[in-house]
Amino acid sequence: MESRVSQAPSRTVVVLAAGEGKRMKSATPKVLQPMLGRTLLGHVLAAAAAAEAGRTIVVVGHKAEQVEAHLAEIEPGAVPVLQAEQNGTGHAVRIALEAAPDAAGTVVVLNGDVPLLRPETVEALVAAHEQSGAGATVLAAEVADPSGLGRIVRDANGHLERIVEERDASPQERALREINAGIYAFDLGLLREALGKLSTDNDQGEEYLTDVFGLLASVGHQVAVHVAGDFRETLGANDKLELALLRVLLRDRVNSAWLRAGVSILDPQTTWIDVTVELEADAVIDQNSQLQGATRVGAGAVVGPDTTLVDTVVGAGATVLRAHSVGAEIGPEATVGPYSYLRPGTTLGRKAKIGGFVEAKNAELGDGAKVPHLSYVGDARIGAKANIGAGTIFANYDGVAKNRTTVGEAAFVGSDSVLMAPVEIGPGAYVAAGSAVTKDVPPGHLGVARGQQRNIPGWVERKRSGTASADAAARASRGEGSDSGHSGGGDPAAEGDTARD
Ligand code: UD1
Ligand code: CA
Repeated sequence: MESRVSQAPSRTVVVLAAGEGKRMKSATPKVLQPMLGRTLLGHVLAAAAAAEAGRTIVVVGHKAEQVEAHLAEIEPGAVPVLQAEQNGTGHAVRIALEAAPDAAGTVVVLNGDVPLLRPETVEALVAAHEQSGAGATVLAAEVADPSGLGRIVRDANGHLERIVEERDASPQERALREINAGIYAFDLGLLREALGKLSTDNDQGEEYLTDVFGLLASVGHQVAVHVAGDFRETLGANDKLELALLRVLLRDRVNSAWLRAGVSILDPQTTWIDVTVELEADAVIDQNSQLQGATRVGAGAVVGPDTTLVDTVVGAGATVLRAHSVGAEIGPEATVGPYSYLRPGTTLGRKAKIGGFVEAKNAELGDGAKVPHLSYVGDARIGAKANIGAGTIFANYDGVAKNRTTVGEAAFVGSDSVLMAPVEIGPGAYVAAGSAVTKDVPPGHLGVARGQQRNIPGWVERKRSGTASADAAARASRGEGSDSGHSGGGDPAAEGDTARD
């Protein structure tokens, strides 16, 4: 956009995004419907960037504030222009150009609802238009089912005569299968002139941009047709069914590109990758996975099956199995899952581990740190090689504020402990299993925070006589062993020394 300062831009892009899209039956305007990482409008703007315009105008109308807010987010350099009443595509472009009196050169107009359009196609359209010297050039495509679309009507010499909307077309014209994709390049001076002459004498009583072609042709200006190499690029989405069909086409395009780039996508039909995602060669994406937003996956990492990653970075050689992750950073060779939930601010160092049924939020795990089973880790820093026992809860919320917990390098937290933040477990410290820790444990100490075990002899015989337990106890005291054939009693070492301290 810097060129704007010194001179009038030589190309202008106008995106038409004022319509409601009634057939979507949605509270969200059509151009804001999402599709694999961008809105429909976002996809069109991304393709339009290939026109290298000095100025981009987006015509907004239906739910204008919402569309403008989105535009400010994705393309702050673009200028929104309000079309208060949607009186047709010609009316929309007229209003857009009134807001750009200094514009000159080529103007590229794009419907806001063609998400599959590729930058290469826009570039080719503009090049063809400027090389031919035509006053106007339309992107056209040959389709099997042209219903609902404007048809390209050619004369006996094959020159474009006019574009006719289906509802205004004769039966012979309706039989034509060459359609108007809604993407155009114009000479700005000629376009301005023709827009001033548009009538509303049609079935919808609107000013049709498409009528510019007939007007220019009728007074002897050259108008041209640029045929798209792949008609699918020109498909518009008018309802949720079309949106779903286009989403499938885009999914396949994205997956094909990554497969060609050396990524293994094991089941492309169940793998949905946003256009914004980046993958390295030799990453493996297993079935039924969704990679969204600013997600990146490194070489040799395995993601899935059944995994959703949103804005998540996965390091080389990491494994993420059956997980849901939002805003996390998973280090190289780290392992996550199955059934884990990583929330924003979670970072895992090299070879760190988040195991099954673990939820982590704003938690930093050092290299080789492990939270292997059934834990909640919130607002915590866990040092390298520390081990957090099964079922440990980092109680970060005291009902009013969130507090942080720190676990030092190579510390060991016994199973089923609660660490009540703010609290610090020092480097190399141990916490006895089943502790409810409220005070810091200094480096190398064992923290024990639980009631001491008391064994009451003869309790079962007195209080539960006649039960299977009492029978088993009696047999055991006679040295007869148990019914199951196991000796019972357990391994005293598994209890640890902690209870006696
Ligand atoms: C339009 C074309 C049709 C073409 C088709 C391709 C016209 C008259 N017809 O038809 O030849 O085959 O696109 O998809 O142009 N919009 C505004 N303001 C308005 C009206 C529309 O901004 O007053 C915007 C819409 O938001 C949309 C785009 O223009 O992004 C196209 O409008 P839409 O109503 O979908 O046009 P179609 O009937 O599909
Ligand atoms: Ca349309």
